[in-house]
Amino acid sequence: MTRNPKNKNSVPPRWRKDVESVLITDTQLARRIRQMSREIERDFTGREMVIVSLLTGTVMFLGDLIRHISLPLRLDFMGVSSYGAGTESGELVFTKELRLDVRGRDVLLVDDILDTGKTLRRVQEKLCLLGPRRIRTCVLLNKKARRVEKVKADYIGFEIPDYFVVGYGLDYAERYRNLPFVGVLRPEMYKS
Ligand code: IMP
Ligand code: MG
Repeated sequence: MTRNPKNKNSVPPRWRKDVESVLITDTQLARRIRQMSREIERDFTGREMVIVSLLTGTVMFLGDLIRHISLPLRLDFMGVSSYGAGTESGELVFTKELRLDVRGRDVLLVDDILDTGKTLRRVQEKLCLLGPRRIRTCVLLNKKARRVEKVKADYIGFEIPDYFVVGYGLDYAERYRNLPFVGVLRPEMYKS
């Protein structure tokens, strides 16, 4: 497939029906995530960390983030999904529990996007009860405009406006996770 280098931000023809625009390109993602890995390396040196990554939206971000972290670490996943297939976060359900013991450990919690904050709030509370030494939170995207819970993220990839975005792991009704960029979903795709 050819892509005009002058139009780096244009949506590939295959996705134009669904995606309105490219918000963050693959190049921008790669560059920023490399920086985030370096920040994390600086802060976690000296102890083996446990990375707790939330399913499923973190798949691509997590892979790119940890390949640049040259520190000993262990990786585990927590499954959490908000009930329903819409764009509003509803009731939270835990679909997979942690297997690693995080007591006394330095934990890096990774999620794709911080939106209302309900998910990370619940997960942080749950992790805290397991007695880690500290928890640092890392998110690729921050949609500050929609926050309802007071949640702090220590590492943030990109601040984004209040658009519903898909790609690079993020979905709408489990679709679009495979797009290599972050794009704005056409509202008619979820308002119909
Ligand atoms: P929160 O609980 O409202 O902060 O929402 C966090 C979760 O909602 C994320 O882990 C995503 O799965 C999902 N989410 C929120 N905003 C978006 C979006 O713009 N695109 C795709 N998923 C989103
Ligand atoms: Mg998610």
